[in-house]
Amino acid sequence: MKVAIIGTGYVGLTTAVVLASLNHDVVAVDKDEGKLSLLHAGKTPIHEPGLQNLFDKVRHTIRFTSDVDEAVPEAKVILIAVGTPLKNGEADTQHVKQAAIEVAQVCHPDRRYTLALKSTVPIGTNRHVAKIVEKVFSARGIRGNVSVASNPEFLQEGLALPGAFYPDRIVVGTDCEDAVDTLRRLYRPILEQTFEPPSLLPRPVGYHLPPMVTTDPNSAEMLKYAANTFLALKISFINEIAGLCEKVGADVTEVAQGIGLDSRIGPRFLNAGIGWGGSCYPKDTAALLGIAAQSEYMMPITEAARTVNSRQREQIVEKLQDALKTLRGKTIGILGLAFKPNTDDIREAPALDIIRRLIKEEANVRAHDPVAVENARHALNGFPIVFASDVCELTHNADALVLITDWDEYQNMDLGVLAKRMNTPLLIDGRNLYDPQEAQAAGFHYIGVGRRIERT
Ligand code: UDX
Repeated sequence: MKVAIIGTGYVGLTTAVVLASLNHDVVAVDKDEGKLSLLHAGKTPIHEPGLQNLFDKVRHTIRFTSDVDEAVPEAKVILIAVGTPLKNGEADTQHVKQAAIEVAQVCHPDRRYTLALKSTVPIGTNRHVAKIVEKVFSARGIRGNVSVASNPEFLQEGLALPGAFYPDRIVVGTDCEDAVDTLRRLYRPILEQTFEPPSLLPRPVGYHLPPMVTTDPNSAEMLKYAANTFLALKISFINEIAGLCEKVGADVTEVAQGIGLDSRIGPRFLNAGIGWGGSCYPKDTAALLGIAAQSEYMMPITEAARTVNSRQREQIVEKLQDALKTLRGKTIGILGLAFKPNTDDIREAPALDIIRRLIKEEANVRAHDPVAVENARHALNGFPIVFASDVCELTHNADALVLITDWDEYQNMDLGVLAKRMNTPLLIDGRNLYDPQEAQAAGFHYIGVGRRIERT
C-alpha cells in the first residue's frame, strides 16, 4: 500500500521503517532539512535500539522529501506524526492542522484517501481536522474524498520496534467505515502476524494476535491520554508507597513484587524511583488537566500523580543534603542523563532538573551518560557541568554518586573499585538498581528509594 508519513520524529520514522519492512511503499515528509540530510545519508537522527539496523535494510525503499506534493497525491494512507508540544498548558495542534491543510491542498480530486492522526491530540481534534480538510477542498473547488481517523501511537522509547511489530493493540477511531477497512489492510501483517520477524526482533514467546480496537474519534483521542495518565499514576502510586516505606521501615521492591503478582494489578510499571520524565507523561498529564479545566472538571488523581512525581526529584536532592550536610563545593557525579535507558532523549529528564538544582546549591556537577551527553550539553548550555567520558572520571574524588538513569552498563559496574575512588563513598540510587547489601559491602553508604536498609 502507498503510504505518506508526515513527520520523521520518533513516531514517524519508526512507523516509516516498520511499514517499509512490511513491504508498504513509504514516502516520509519532514520540513527539517538537517534531519532529511541525515536520513538521505542513511543515518537515523535518533538513538533507538535496532532502528539503524532495520533502516539500513529498507532505506532504499523509503523516499524522504520536504515536499508533501511528492508524497501525498499517490498515497492511499497519509499518517500525520508531527509533534504536539505543550503550550500554555495545552497540547499545541498547530503542526497537525498545518499538515492537514498541506495534505488537503495536494490531494487528487478523484482519489480516495485515509488520513490518520498518530499524534497525541486533544479531544475533538480529528473531527476538527476533517472540517479543515473539507474547507480546503471547497476553497479548491473540489469535492475530494478523505476519511479522517485517529490512530494513536503507543510507542515506548527504547522499545519502539518491538512495540510496533508486536503491539498490545491497534486503535482506530473514526466516523468513516472505509478508514477502518483501509487501516486494517495497512496493519494486516501486524494484526495477523504474517511477516517474517526481523533477525533482531524475534516474535515474543506467547505473543497473541493484537486486537484492532475501533471507536469514535473522540474516544480514541481520550483513550491515548487515559493510557498514558494511568501508567504515570501507577508509577506515582508506587513512589508514594515508597516514601511511606522509608518512614516505617518497609521495602518497596518487596511490596511491589507482592502486589504485582495480583493479576488485577500486574507487575509492570511498579518500579519506584526518581519518577517519570520523557516526552509523553509530563506533557499528556498536563494536557489532560488542561482539557478538564476547559470543561470545568476536576481531576484530583491526575493532579496528585504530577505532584508526587515532582516530589521524587526534590527528594533526591534532599537525601544528598541530609547525607552531605551542605552541597556547596561538593562534587556530585550524575549517572545517567536520558529520561530512561536505551534512548538519547532528555526531554523532561529528571537529571536536568536535579542538575540545575545542585548547581543552584553551588555543588560541582559531573555527569555521564552512554548516549545522551550531546543532547544534555545542548539543553544545559551555560551551566557549569563537567561531562565525564567514563565512570572512572565521574567518581574520581567525588563526594556522592547519584544514579538517575538505569542503563544496563551501570548495573554491572564494579562498585568496590568506584567507592575507593571517591572522597566520600555515598551512593544515591534513584532507580533502586543496586542491591543495598551489595552496595554496602562494596564500601558505599547506600540510599535508595523506599528501600529497607540493614546497615552493616
Ligand atoms: C510512554 C508510554 O509507555 C507509551 O505507550 C506512550 O506512547 C508514550 O509514553 P515513554 O515515555 O517512551 O513511553 O517511556 P516509558 O517506558 O513509559 O517510561 C516513562 C518514564 O517512566 C521513564 O522516565 C521511566 O524511567 C519511568 N518509569 C517507568 C518508572 O519510573 N517506573 C516504572 O516502573 C516504569
